[in-house]
Amino acid sequence: MPVSLNKLWLLTTQLIPQVLRSLLKRQAARMRCLAARVNYKTLIVICALFTLITVLLWNRCSTEGALRFLPRAALVAPSPRIGDASISSQQQHPPQPPEPPPVVGGNRNEEIDCLINDETTVKGRREGNEVYLPFSWVEKYFEVYGKVVQYDGYDRFEFQHSYSKVYAQREPYHPNGVFMSFEGYNVEVRDRVKCISGVEGVPLSTQWGPQGYFYAIQIAQYGLSHYSKNLTERPPHVEVYDTAEERGGPAPWTVPKGCSLSRVYDKSRSTSVRQFSAAESSEGVSLPLGNSKDFILSLDIKFVSNGSVSVVLETTEKGAPFTIHYVTSTQLIAFRERDVTYGVGPRGAWSTLTRDLLTDLRKGVGLSNTKAVKATKIMPRRVVRLVLRGRGFLDNVTVSTTAHMAAFFAASDWLLRNQDERGGWPIMVTRKLGEGFRPLEPGWYSAMAQGQAMSTLVRAYLLTKNQAYLGAALKAVGPFKVPSAQHGVKAVFMNRYDWYEEYPTTPSSFVLNGFIYSLLGLYDLAETGGEALGREAAQLFARGMESLKAMLPLYDTGSGSIYDLRHFVLGSAPNLARWDYHTTHINQLQLLASIDGAPVFRDAVRRWKNYLKGIRAKHN
Ligand SMILES: *[C@@H]1O[C@H](CO)[C@@H](O)[C@H](O)[C@H]1NC(C)=O
Ligand SMILES: *[C@@H]1O[C@H](CO)[C@@H](O)[C@H](O)[C@H]1NC(C)=O
Ligand SMILES: *[C@@H]1O[C@H](CO)[C@@H](O)[C@H](O)[C@H]1NC(C)=O
Repeated sequence: MPVSLNKLWLLTTQLIPQVLRSLLKRQAARMRCLAARVNYKTLIVICALFTLITVLLWNRCSTEGALRFLPRAALVAPSPRIGDASISSQQQHPPQPPEPPPVVGGNRNEEIDCLINDETTVKGRREGNEVYLPFSWVEKYFEVYGKVVQYDGYDRFEFQHSYSKVYAQREPYHPNGVFMSFEGYNVEVRDRVKCISGVEGVPLSTQWGPQGYFYAIQIAQYGLSHYSKNLTERPPHVEVYDTAEERGGPAPWTVPKGCSLSRVYDKSRSTSVRQFSAAESSEGVSLPLGNSKDFILSLDIKFVSNGSVSVVLETTEKGAPFTIHYVTSTQLIAFRERDVTYGVGPRGAWSTLTRDLLTDLRKGVGLSNTKAVKATKIMPRRVVRLVLRGRGFLDNVTVSTTAHMAAFFAASDWLLRNQDERGGWPIMVTRKLGEGFRPLEPGWYSAMAQGQAMSTLVRAYLLTKNQAYLGAALKAVGPFKVPSAQHGVKAVFMNRYDWYEEYPTTPSSFVLNGFIYSLLGLYDLAETGGEALGREAAQLFARGMESLKAMLPLYDTGSGSIYDLRHFVLGSAPNLARWDYHTTHINQLQLLASIDGAPVFRDAVRRWKNYLKGIRAKHN
């Protein structure tokens, strides 16, 4: 039936106003008729008209239905994109009128069997000469990504060859600047972080064991991400609640019967502080906070007995508020009904307690005995009040948007406290890299941990000029000089190229990203230590760069990159890098390209970026 729907549509739109006009005239006439006497002829005419209008409207509806199949571009002007070839042609020609809808034949969207590799059949669709395979099949077969999204008022299908993005290399790299793209990292929200320890102030990992262990790589990344955020974000809003100073008037504390609170002078700190006393079983002395904007609590505290600092939180959950208790025990974390508890250690000397209440609440509510923290949507809405129990002193109560430097120094100081006599941060968990590799027994070192720790400690040193940080970074080169088999991290490729192992396995595994992180640490240290102190790091860095330049092509598949060299070492299938590791490789190489102009880095970055868009190396 070759009826042009467009013509029908025009016909209907022109007819309807005419019909309506005559209908209205007749309606008026009808009222007059009814007032006088019932004219049956008029009624019949009206009935006939209604029928006609119904039929016409019906047609109009189905024509509008057909309009839906007009090309989208005809309905909504396309937003031109920079670099889009269509821009110039648009500028030369005035906008075209909408194209007519495609002619719909009987075989539109006809089902067709698609035989895949002579093996399986999936149902596709045919339209003219084009065949469409279901995207759910395409997605699995090619490992590509796509979804329907709606914005600017209509639906689009967005297709991605990869799911991961490369960061733009910011200004030249400096050992006191942003670390790679770590301002975008958020270590504490990962479900493999059980919680931020109250005693240590750093994340506890469950990645390779549900019991949890302190993992120097994760701790250094926690520090480096907060350091980088401090350099890239806006300064936080800080609300001060009590500094125990006279000016600003007395803070509105509530002191129940049997409890006490007073202002005293602390000689060691040369400042006024609060002295408090409240039995563990009492209501406690409390300070209303009423902050519904920010959720980082910070205070200076010194206990002279066992006690606790509790924070009452209104949350997105209905019912009673939640309370987070920071108690003077060494318990890691507990959760019961509406109470989350973190041990913060005895705190017998002055220390600053800085806690991210959002993270603390979520890790508590999501607490589990498995490797992953349970997902929860709970959010704090308002920090209601602070409650103190036990006996001790308190000062400088604030609530702020962020406290990046507190997190950075928590990580730096953990690294200082936990470095062993060989300069390493032993990892106290068994690591099985895969079949063919001997498992690493607890106590192994990682070149990546050593390098990321160096990058952290060097930054702490550059900020504070505290020699202890630089000293620890210098000591951290120790394991780089010792072969993997002798509790070091050094491997040698083909008896020629030194390599620093993220996992010092037997046989060697040559993990690429961990090696580059170790090089970045050595670079930071060499630059900061200078000619004399930094010499050893500079030599290790130079040797490593030589290896990397020679070996980088071994990690290139022509369509992606490879995580390690097990295909060479074990003769097994190559361990292809997931897209997020591939983009990590690119981010790392971009950074190296900014400090070393060797073409091998520049070229790899260009080629490897193309792989993200499905552009492969040429074949013969
Ligand atoms: C970064 O740290 C400095 C020094 O502690 C502080 O003054 C500044 O507000 C911080 N900025 C951000 C965005 O965290
Ligand atoms: C806190 O309690 C623990 C265990 O009950 C006890 O060993 C410790 O001495 C107490 N600390 C103080 C400062 O009273
Ligand atoms: C409270 O903060 C002030 C200003 O930063 C500082 O001088 C004082 O020592 C702090 N109080 C304590 C007990 O650390």
